[in-house]
Amino acid sequence: MKYLSGNEIRQKYLDFFKERGHLVLPSASLIPHDDPTLLLIGAGMAPFKPYFTGKVKPPATRITTCQKCVRTGDIENVGRTARHHTYFEMLGNFSFGDYFKKEVIPWAWEFLTKVLELPADKLWITVYPKDQEAYDLWHDVCGVPAERIVKLEDNWWEITSGGPCGPDSEIHIDLGEERGCGSPDCGPGCDCGRFLELWNLVFTQYNKEPDGSYTPLQHKNIDTGLGLERVASVLQNKPSNFETDLIFPIIEYACRVSGKTYNADPKDDVSLKVIADHARSVTFMIGDGILPSNEGRGYILRRVLRRAIRHGRLLGIRKEFLVGAADLVIDMYGDHYTDLREKKSYIEKVIAMEENSFLQTLEQGTDLLNQKIDAMRKAGSTVLNGEDAFQLYDTFGFPWELTEEILEEQGFTMDKEGFEKAMEAQRERARSARNDKEGKPVLYETRHLKLGVLTVDEASKNGKVAAIFPAH
Ligand code: ALA
Repeated sequence: MKYLSGNEIRQKYLDFFKERGHLVLPSASLIPHDDPTLLLIGAGMAPFKPYFTGKVKPPATRITTCQKCVRTGDIENVGRTARHHTYFEMLGNFSFGDYFKKEVIPWAWEFLTKVLELPADKLWITVYPKDQEAYDLWHDVCGVPAERIVKLEDNWWEITSGGPCGPDSEIHIDLGEERGCGSPDCGPGCDCGRFLELWNLVFTQYNKEPDGSYTPLQHKNIDTGLGLERVASVLQNKPSNFETDLIFPIIEYACRVSGKTYNADPKDDVSLKVIADHARSVTFMIGDGILPSNEGRGYILRRVLRRAIRHGRLLGIRKEFLVGAADLVIDMYGDHYTDLREKKSYIEKVIAMEENSFLQTLEQGTDLLNQKIDAMRKAGSTVLNGEDAFQLYDTFGFPWELTEEILEEQGFTMDKEGFEKAMEAQRERARSARNDKEGKPVLYETRHLKLGVLTVDEASKNGKVAAIFPAH
């Protein structure tokens, strides 16, 4: 096993599959194209759903990518475990009705043991119990001994909201007894951390329909996902993904800005890791054209961004720091994701605006929430009422999940139903205000304005355009 940087691993993977007839495509945007079931791309196969189903003809039947992914379903675990991230990269090779198990299994084995030189005797395999073909290929062709091939019922992969899916087979690495729980049942699938899942090979044969039923696909396909950060942690001999060269420089940056030391205080480490993880998500999301807002993917971005800022506060950072973190991300990733460099000043601007506006209210909002918590403590109550939670959202820009998280850190909860009621009442007020003729904003058609007759008036250069009226 030799040390490889994250960038080298990515390149070696793409080259390996290129040599085996794959078209190398750049990562798709994090914004799904023409897929209302997804807010963000969270798996390497997600942009290729129509190729699997046969709805669209792929540019090649063999494709390989390194896909940017964002998943925020378990965001509160980020920084608390070795592997949870909101942003990660998934290396993948795909077959659309082309090769199948007998090609992909030996290739995966060759890449891990010959190219990356991982120790074969530390690799464990899991297969779907009924999948004898996969079992035999691992055993007879790759030479994995029976005691390291485990049959697991949950070896099945699908996206909850539906799409192409099927049985799978995973490759895990044994990181050593000292990393394990010591239970006699410990093995791949145990979540103690000793066995690290590296690569998932999905034998995509079905489509999960909106009603939850499964229909066989026209062709048999392959979808694989190898976690870049995970492989890097193994090859760089690091205890977690956060210490790899894909993330650690951002932790060091956050240490420099906050004056904190990594590995000195577990609470600070969580915040340092959150900042490092979130800085990557935010940079890539904005780079792909997402803007902070109060709904959909814009809200996910806002939530991640504001969460990072709050953790900066927890570390004692009082000034803006996220733009600097994003600059570093662009430096680290710009050679592969070249568009990041082109969009650098745009990304900086979006972050600076959002950071600035949130910093202005973060302190007041946090003070208010702390006062509420004190009052609740005195009153012996454990639930923050919905009106107060809504005030934090509406006046101070606290995503409600942030309020909930801060409360939970101190043993409290939030009245979610009351919050939603207050939100609905606010929407209702806004609706009736819009119906009120007097207050209705007038938006005139401006496309036909003759730009040639507009001049710059030096004296009123600093004025703001409040409204434009047609000259009747
Ligand atoms: N689509 C599979 C996964 O995300 C490879 O694990």
